[in-house]
Amino acid sequence: MTRIPHESSGEPNPLRALTLDRLRRRTSMKWRTYPEDVLPVWVAEMDVPLAERVVRAVTDALALGDTGYPAGTAYAEALAAFAGERWGWDGLAVERTAIVPDVMLGVVEMLKLVTGPGDPVVVNPPVYPPFFPFLAHLDRRVAEAPLGADGRLDLDTLEETFRRITAGGRRAAYLLCSPHNPTGTVHTADELTAVAALADRYGVRVVADEIHAPVVTAGTRFVPYLAVPGGENGLSLMSASKGWNLAGLKAALAVAGPEAAADLARLPEEVGHGPSHVGVIAHTAALREGVGWLDALLAGLDDNRRLLADLLAEHLPAVVCRPGEATYLAWLDCRALGLGADPAETFLRRGRVAFSSGIPFGTGGAGHVRLNLATSPEIIEEAVRRMTAAVG
Ligand SMILES: Cc1ncc(COP(=O)(O)O)c(C=O)c1O
Repeated sequence: MTRIPHESSGEPNPLRALTLDRLRRRTSMKWRTYPEDVLPVWVAEMDVPLAERVVRAVTDALALGDTGYPAGTAYAEALAAFAGERWGWDGLAVERTAIVPDVMLGVVEMLKLVTGPGDPVVVNPPVYPPFFPFLAHLDRRVAEAPLGADGRLDLDTLEETFRRITAGGRRAAYLLCSPHNPTGTVHTADELTAVAALADRYGVRVVADEIHAPVVTAGTRFVPYLAVPGGENGLSLMSASKGWNLAGLKAALAVAGPEAAADLARLPEEVGHGPSHVGVIAHTAALREGVGWLDALLAGLDDNRRLLADLLAEHLPAVVCRPGEATYLAWLDCRALGLGADPAETFLRRGRVAFSSGIPFGTGGAGHVRLNLATSPEIIEEAVRRMTAAVG
């Protein structure tokens, strides 16, 4: 039976645990890119203490000197159990998985399996900015099929793009972001089934980046791409890194549908040397024992989503904030403020608050900023105060 997320986990809200002073002692990208007087609400790092079970697993490994190379399938087994319980999906077969260093390097490796140099890869902008440079570095051609104005997949545009890029029998792939970063859109089973039918019709291989799958709002159902009819030859990348803030503990899983098993079997063995063994331990503990912590996080994110919507309605009603059903990111349409293509620049310069600029998200990103909701209510209040001051 599918578990209803984030009910009565009994754990405290991790988003309320850390003060700004304490967060500023961190040395990661979020905290060291801008000077001290700037409030960072940009990159997807969470302002939380780690789940206690994850800390214990990593601490035990360090105490034991268990810091060698990764072995075994514990991570995949933990993900399979999580997928069954959380999404009601029993189709994740451990023998059709491989550990990869992280999701983006996993995406690169999956695309190497199903496309060649110069082949087109479809993306749906506005979308996670690193998709563009990673595809360029891989010598794949980006084909944009923008989201619709409602922030959802536009199946007509997708079909037209598939038709165009496969003309003449060219190989092509589709890098699906599910749930979608930055809009937080959760693709429905019907939408994903339609995607699979189109992919089949045009011979396009689907690689699904499902890193945000654990982070969905109450009452929303995440549907794994490999679980929909027609998704059997898809490849997916999953990870505990977003849900439990483990980006610095490198590990992720590539998962093949039954008809993609032979493709995944061609993955060079050395790719599995890239993930950190301690990372694998941390991710496994998160999926196995960190569900209560995740539920407390998700409840806190729901509160923060409401708080942000209320604050914007009160202080900056011209900003359009369509709350997503997933991720801990809010995509803010600031075009009505008249700040031009890059409002993040004005907010930074005049308000000393750092958002992610919408521009690197591709078509549809101009005039937008992305805010990271995985922080304390006080920091969200301060971010809106600084935004308001910047336009005042
Ligand atoms: C959609 C998406 N894919 C991939 C990543 C990066 O994942 P990793 O650090 O495992 O490469 C992120 C990080 O925010 C993301 O939002």
